[in-house]
Amino acid sequence: MNIIVIGSGAREHALCRLVEKSYLCEKLYCFPGNFGISQIAECRNISNSEEIIEECQKISPDLIIIGPENYLSENLAGRLRGLNFNVFGPDEHGAKLESSKEFMKEFCQSHDIPTARSKTFTSFDSAKTYLELRNGPIVVKYDGLAAGKGVFVCSNQQEAIDACFKVFEEKVFNKENNKVVIEDFLEGKELSFFTITDGKNYLNFGSAQDYKRIGDNDTGPNTGGMGTVSPAPILNEELMKKIQSQIIEKTITGLNKDKINFQGVLFFGIMVDKDNKPYLLEYNTRFGDPEIQSISLRLNSDFLSLAHATATKNLEYTNIDFDNDKKSICLILATSGYPEQYPKDTLIKNLNEFPNNDQFYIFHAATKKNGHNILTNGGRVLSLVAMGDTYEECRNKVYKIAEEIDWDHKYYRKDIGANY
Ligand code: AMP
Ligand code: GLY
Repeated sequence: MNIIVIGSGAREHALCRLVEKSYLCEKLYCFPGNFGISQIAECRNISNSEEIIEECQKISPDLIIIGPENYLSENLAGRLRGLNFNVFGPDEHGAKLESSKEFMKEFCQSHDIPTARSKTFTSFDSAKTYLELRNGPIVVKYDGLAAGKGVFVCSNQQEAIDACFKVFEEKVFNKENNKVVIEDFLEGKELSFFTITDGKNYLNFGSAQDYKRIGDNDTGPNTGGMGTVSPAPILNEELMKKIQSQIIEKTITGLNKDKINFQGVLFFGIMVDKDNKPYLLEYNTRFGDPEIQSISLRLNSDFLSLAHATATKNLEYTNIDFDNDKKSICLILATSGYPEQYPKDTLIKNLNEFPNNDQFYIFHAATKKNGHNILTNGGRVLSLVAMGDTYEECRNKVYKIAEEIDWDHKYYRKDIGANY
């Protein structure tokens, strides 16, 4: 098979690795890819939907896998499917589960999926009037894609009013037609859960715990993710049963009832309260980054067959197998200063001293080659992933290599997987 993966991050590097190691893979392309990906796929510097469609028509691939959400909400998957390509990724209707918080909330309400109580507002005045009647912590969510910056977890009424001011009056995300969903604050522990579906059948793709804050012990600003452990340590059998019956099955049934064709991956962001009850915080309609980096090392099944079956509605003839006894940890190495200001073009001196294998892999998010040098060109730069029998074994491995990487500007959290 010839396959095209769309995207340029460490998530797409992890997907490319899975595709490339399949016996079914003849030729793998990645648009636009990055330096790390170019070691295992042919990268082409194409990143807008129109050019991608043109190039797909030239190459005529057997499968197209779309990594990032922005392409999905622009309906790239739907348009490619309209041209008879096999695509892993939902059409724009399904992608709305991620791109619109209001749509997600209405979907949960109509299919009885547990989630925080919420109300939607279309003006600053109405949101403010509502907030003036509320006390204590509360959450304000901008209704649209906002690169992870659209959720304001507020500790009091004033912070929430300020967040609404940013959206409606300062218009930080969008110039007009702004909306916010204001919802109850939920206390608990979070986990990320993944399910691939061809619309009718589904297979669970595993779990991870994401470390979102920049600083140790979950301090400082939110980031795109500073590390993950897989499986999520809090996921016991009882919780899995609840997630299965109350969230996953109801979602698949709901998609069918609402006639939303969904061929791709559902990423459930879940909060688990002190009574071990799961609530859906969000849907994403693509793999998580950095979740997939850690989950992918534990996958035994052939990912390319699974992705192709998802895209051709043949999932019922497949099954999935993970190394259930194994754990994995992903540690993100970022450029010091991230998520605020940070330098670019910094030199990583010795990356080729750390060969990849089935138990350890370095995925690239923001590297480029300049002559013989490897330079950085972003905030989150490398994903170091190790698999082992215990979380401790994985931790020892990733932290040993993180220390050995010779890069003056490296920053990483010291506590990924520390308490397990
Ligand atoms: P979301 O993009 O909706 O998952 O929100 C991003 C992050 O905000 C989540 O991963 C949580 O850490 C936090 N969050 C979102 N909704 C809530 C909520 N209702 N209660 C507490 N924290 C929340
Ligand atoms: N790790 C969270 C995300 O991919 O959105």
